[in-house]
Amino acid sequence: MKLGCCYYPEHWPEDRWADDAERMAAMGLSLVRIGEFAWSRIEPEGDARYDWGWLDRAIDTLHAAGLKVILGTPTATPPKWLVDRMPDMVAIDEQGRPRGFGSRRHYCFSHEGYRAECRRIVTALAERYGAHPAIVMWQTDNEYGCHDTVLSFSAAAASAFRAWLAARYGTVAALNTAWGNVFWSMEYRAFAEVDPPHLTVTEANPAHWLDYRRFASDQVARFNREQVAIIRAHAPGRDITHNFMGFFTEFDHHVVGRDIDVATWDSYPLGFLEQFWFSAQEKRAYLRQGHPDIAAFHHDLYRGCSGRRWGVMEQQPGPVNWARFNPAPLPGMVALWTLEACAHGAEFTSYFRWRQAPFGQEQMHAGLLRPDSTEAEAAPEVREAARVLADIGPQTAARAPVALVFSYEAAWVIGIQPQGRSFRYLELVFEWYQALRVQGLDVDIVAPDADLSGYRMVVVPSLPIVPDGFAAKLAALACPVLLGPRSGSKTADFAIPDGLAPGVLRDAIPLTVTRVESLRDGIAEPADGFAVTRWREDVVSDLVPEWTDAAGRGVVYRSGGTRYCAIWPDRGLLALLVERMAGEAGLALTALPEGIRVRRTQTHVFTFNYAAEPVFVPHLGVVLPPAGWHIRPL
Ligand code: GAL
Repeated sequence: MKLGCCYYPEHWPEDRWADDAERMAAMGLSLVRIGEFAWSRIEPEGDARYDWGWLDRAIDTLHAAGLKVILGTPTATPPKWLVDRMPDMVAIDEQGRPRGFGSRRHYCFSHEGYRAECRRIVTALAERYGAHPAIVMWQTDNEYGCHDTVLSFSAAAASAFRAWLAARYGTVAALNTAWGNVFWSMEYRAFAEVDPPHLTVTEANPAHWLDYRRFASDQVARFNREQVAIIRAHAPGRDITHNFMGFFTEFDHHVVGRDIDVATWDSYPLGFLEQFWFSAQEKRAYLRQGHPDIAAFHHDLYRGCSGRRWGVMEQQPGPVNWARFNPAPLPGMVALWTLEACAHGAEFTSYFRWRQAPFGQEQMHAGLLRPDSTEAEAAPEVREAARVLADIGPQTAARAPVALVFSYEAAWVIGIQPQGRSFRYLELVFEWYQALRVQGLDVDIVAPDADLSGYRMVVVPSLPIVPDGFAAKLAALACPVLLGPRSGSKTADFAIPDGLAPGVLRDAIPLTVTRVESLRDGIAEPADGFAVTRWREDVVSDLVPEWTDAAGRGVVYRSGGTRYCAIWPDRGLLALLVERMAGEAGLALTALPEGIRVRRTQTHVFTFNYAAEPVFVPHLGVVLPPAGWHIRPL
């Protein structure tokens, strides 16, 4: 695995570039990502009057130091002159307010004029640098959707949505039927009458919302595809990536992932621990390390997005600036996070950023160097990681025995209609992932349309809308399969299926869900080895339940190798299910101590300690210090 960093030559005097480049190489870095926010320096005034000189020299300086370059297209930061020329290019938020100039991502994916400008600047860049020997990879834009920018309610978005609906439904009568618009007299007489689903008195029709989310996701994919086509034409043989984010489901990454060569993501384990649903106790225990499954979860998710080629484009090197609280990593964590990426098969890890900026919004965000160019705490850890990586040699992710099916559409459906506010799709998937990992199992997180043959266990945490062909694919599997609550509970039009849930999955698991209830936080109805929390389904079936609650109501049903779990599975039930299914699959489990995680490549097994204390690891017979790791050949 290679190491790299994110660098902004335009932030620093030119006479510092050569020294920076040499220091990067000396630290063990071989890749540098540049350019993704530099539009105002590439084209200061508009009208295709480009200033390439500085960028030519920056790339050549990095090249001269032996570094390879990842060049970003600058479309996440349209310059002021462009916004002034077409003020309606900005996104409009759900409250109807423009998202104006003065930070970044101030554009609407549906604005035709902005898309034309993006094609122009990307063409100019690709023509100039497509064949440059230093450039090995291109990054499109930056973090699609960051700062809540996938959904826009602009006039451009509204008219593109109408065209999207017309293409999907053909006639407005078909749309009315699909959405059930007879409800509350919501029927339309023409596609032109349909607005985005915001600013309604109470909630808009969930079918309307789902189509708006599908449409918005398609707009992101189309925007990306336009850049990819241009880069491919001018930069043959170079890889294309986009840097995805953590715990982010606003567009379908599997779709965007198919258009690029290498899925990358931006890994900020401490920021994510602070910002997401983790308990106060987890936030305390993993304050300076990040929860042990946060980085791993995304490594495994994004490996499944782009034909198994993936990397970390931005790795947290110290405190960030954007979470509610921004602790410093425990000494050793930056090296550990780096090696964990390698253990999951990353092609590279690139730190954000080379030097901390003394100005601008991110001046409190650490880099590998401080603003005065002295080395920050992470620098020696990067050297250490580089040494270990050289030692163990190239690594390739092993195919995991367990497939966890992840669906962006499922996240939208449950987000639109949670029915109980603590039913969070991402959290449910993460809980499953964790339950598998604490038993030492490696996991591939895959799309619903992935080939599932060859896996020894398949877990579908929840799949409300079952895509065509999925049920037949499950039927062909011989391994244990788990279907979670709400699976098969909706049609593609966001309606309850004929014959009730689990709809088309009934062939796989003969039961009917007759009622669902959600339970407020803090309610836990104890059963044997687990408790019912958050969600429970009443099930009618001839099957004898495998697990029941204290009142004898079925909780898990089994038919052949397929199980259906009719409640939100708490950690107790997850552990019972993992043990039972692994036993049937013949998978050996290794119960890992708190904070310890394991991952195998094709040749090595990596063990990591995420706990803040030393931990004795029975399967190794050693004590790992905090932020410690152990790597040995398989
Ligand atoms: C990412 C972004 C970077 C930088 C970084 C700070 O979301 O891609 O440009 O803002 O966060 O942590």
